[in-house]
Amino acid sequence: MAPLPVSSIRVGKIEDVQELIKSKPNKVPERFIREANERGVILTLKTQHHHHIPVIDLSKLSKPHNHDDFLFEILKLSKACEDWGFFQVINHGIEVEVVEDIEKVAKEFFELPLEEKKKYPMEPGTVQGYGQAFIFSEDQKLDWCNMFALGVHPPPIRNPKLWPSKPARFSENLEGYSQEIRKLCKRLLKYIAISLGLKEERFEEMFGEAVQAVRMNYYPPCSSPDLVLGLSPHSDGSAVTVLQQSKNSCVGLQILKDNTWVPVLPLPNALVINIGDTIEVLTNGKYKSVEHRAVTNREKERLTIVTFYAPNYEVKIEPMVELVDDETNPCKYRSYNHGDYSHHYVSNKLQGKKSLDFAKILN
Ligand code: OGA
Ligand code: NI
Repeated sequence: MAPLPVSSIRVGKIEDVQELIKSKPNKVPERFIREANERGVILTLKTQHHHHIPVIDLSKLSKPHNHDDFLFEILKLSKACEDWGFFQVINHGIEVEVVEDIEKVAKEFFELPLEEKKKYPMEPGTVQGYGQAFIFSEDQKLDWCNMFALGVHPPPIRNPKLWPSKPARFSENLEGYSQEIRKLCKRLLKYIAISLGLKEERFEEMFGEAVQAVRMNYYPPCSSPDLVLGLSPHSDGSAVTVLQQSKNSCVGLQILKDNTWVPVLPLPNALVINIGDTIEVLTNGKYKSVEHRAVTNREKERLTIVTFYAPNYEVKIEPMVELVDDETNPCKYRSYNHGDYSHHYVSNKLQGKKSLDFAKILN
C-alpha cells in the first residue's frame, strides 16, 4: 500500500452497494453490469465435483510426531503452490476467539450508517479507507462490494485517521488479529522455503520489516448475481495472502485453473492462503500467483477479511539464484524494488495477472 500522490482522476459516481440495495433491492445499475464474457458464472454443485483446492494440516508441520508426516505435508504444500497457487490451512493454531472477534467488528463496521463509514473515506487513487479501490476512470465497471482497507505494519504505512472509533473494539481486535496473522505468515514462509529446498529463514531474512495490510470485503446480496462480479479478476501483489471467510459463508471465491473458474468451498475454521506475485517472481515462476475473483449470491451477504503480507518496500526482488539455471530454467523476471511494484500495483485497475507484466522479461 504505497502512498500515492493526491490525484485529480475522475472516477464518476461510485455508488455504495449496501445503500443501493436498501433503496432499490432489485435493480442493478448499468455500471455494475459486466460484459458477457466476464460475468460471474455461478457453477453448480455438479461442476464443482472434481475440484478442491488442497488442504494443508499445519499441525503436521509445527509439531511433527513423525518425520514422514512432516515430509508428506511439505510435499503437499509444494504441489499446492505449484499446481494451484492456493490452499486452505487447518489446525493453524489461531484461537477461534481471535477469528470471531475480528469478524464481529468487521461486520458491525459495515452495518454502521453510511455517514459514519464515510468518516474514513478511500480517496480516489488511494487504497486505504472505506470505498472501492482500483477505480481509475468514469467508465470503469464497478465491483458489487464495499471495501474497508487499512495499512497495519510497519507503523509508517498506517494512517491512524482511518482506524475507526466505532465499533469500540475495532482497533484492539484488529491489532490482536494482525499479530496472529503475522506469525502465521512467517510460519508459512518458513514451510514454503523448506518446500523449495531452501533454508527456512530465507524469506524472513530477505523481507526485512515486512509490510502487512488488511482489506475487509463486504459483498451484499445481489438480485442478479449472474450479471455482476463481487471482485474483479486479479492476482495479489503480496508474497502471501491470508483470507478469512465469515462463518457459514457461502461460496464466493473462485480461482482460475486450467481456464475454468473453480469455486473455493469454505471449510469450517480454515483459512485460505494464496501465493502472491512476489513469490512467483522469487521462485522464477515455480510457485504461481493465481488469478482469482469473487462472485455474489442472490440471498446471502458475504464478508471476507484479507491480509496481504509482503516484503519491506526497500527490498530488491528478483528470481532467487537457487531457482534459476541459465540452461534449463532461465530467468523470467527482471529485478525491481518492491515499493515500486507495490506502487505500480495500486495505480492500475485489477486486470487478471496484468500487473506482473511490470516484471516479466519478454523474449
Ligand atoms: C482480495 C480477494 C476474495 C474474496 O481481497 O484480494 O481476492 O473472496 N478477495 O473476498
Ligand atoms: Ni485477491
